[in-house]
Amino acid sequence: MKHKVSLKPYNTFGIDLPVADFTEVDDIEQLAELSDYAAPVHVLGGGSNILLTRPVEGLIILNRLKGLNVVKEDDNHVWLNVASGEVWHELVMFAVNNDLSGIENLALIPGTVGASPIQNIGAYGVEVKDIIDSVVCWHWQEKKLVTYDNADCKFGYRDSIFKHELKGKVFVTSVVFKLGKHPVLNTSYGAIEEELNKMGVTTPSIQSIAQAVINIRSSKLPDPKEIGNAGSFFKNPEIPLTQYQQLKLEHPAMPHYPVTETIVKVPAGWLIEQCGWKGYRHGDCGVHARQALVLVNYGGAAGDEIWKLSGEIVASVKDRFGIELEREVQVW
Ligand code: EPU
Repeated sequence: MKHKVSLKPYNTFGIDLPVADFTEVDDIEQLAELSDYAAPVHVLGGGSNILLTRPVEGLIILNRLKGLNVVKEDDNHVWLNVASGEVWHELVMFAVNNDLSGIENLALIPGTVGASPIQNIGAYGVEVKDIIDSVVCWHWQEKKLVTYDNADCKFGYRDSIFKHELKGKVFVTSVVFKLGKHPVLNTSYGAIEEELNKMGVTTPSIQSIAQAVINIRSSKLPDPKEIGNAGSFFKNPEIPLTQYQQLKLEHPAMPHYPVTETIVKVPAGWLIEQCGWKGYRHGDCGVHARQALVLVNYGGAAGDEIWKLSGEIVASVKDRFGIELEREVQVW
């Protein structure tokens, strides 16, 4: 175990704050040994969905669990058990290269496999809950591995039981994905169709969809290796249809997507752009010029500066549209 370690290399926002205790885990047995650690324990995967605002107390465990194996297989599906420390995009490319469908729309999402169920990562019409069979966790108090089936995980939009009842209680060790042998392609998201057309693809495949997603993401979203960021900083808010209808009178161009018969989702990126924030920069922190949902650190921004900027954005969207944005990143 190391002490007073800078977390700068371990978070994609590139915030330079220390943690009291730090260790890496590459074997499940090490988790048993760490189960009696007295202070708070945090798990870090790719560090691509956190904003550090103060020195972290307790212990950070960097997840280095690796490995992938086929659990079972039938005529239509393959069940893959993937260790939580594997890089998400590498898993997507493994599936794509082996003609296994289900996660091609989720190409290039930063982070690790272990974070995927916690956050129920999603993009371009697919959420990971659609292909998760089960999630295997080390339970800190019970000191044993526990398997949560898809239904146990209580998946919602960027949400799961791991952010609520099980928060801090478990360490995700592996995820079992049910991938298809006969592709069921999802090209319903407008941007994918557009990109496939641009690529000259008339008969989409798992491979061309993954490539389309990679093209779209690379053109819109900043690469954390170049500019610090944690992807979408806010969730897309869900509002009552009646509120949307009222807002639409004043803002006819406001995009929206139906969630239920009475609830619609409105893109936070659009709301933030309308409030004039897109491309805004103050010191080293700002709002990305090509996607207003992404806050960025141009180099030396402090976590609390980014936090403050996010508060100003929340206030201005609330003021202009009466909609309360919720942060998507985890703030530590
Ligand atoms: N828009 C604007 N201005 C902006 C950004 C977006 O007007 O600055 C509008 C777009 O024109 C479009 C709509 O908002 O009409 C939606 O934009 P986009 O397709 O870029 O998707 P998003 O709603 O902004 C969500 C996810 C992304 C995911 C994309 C694609 C959330 C919080 N974000 O973004 O996920 O990649 O859809 O499916 O749901 C992430 O979670 O980190 C993430 C990047």
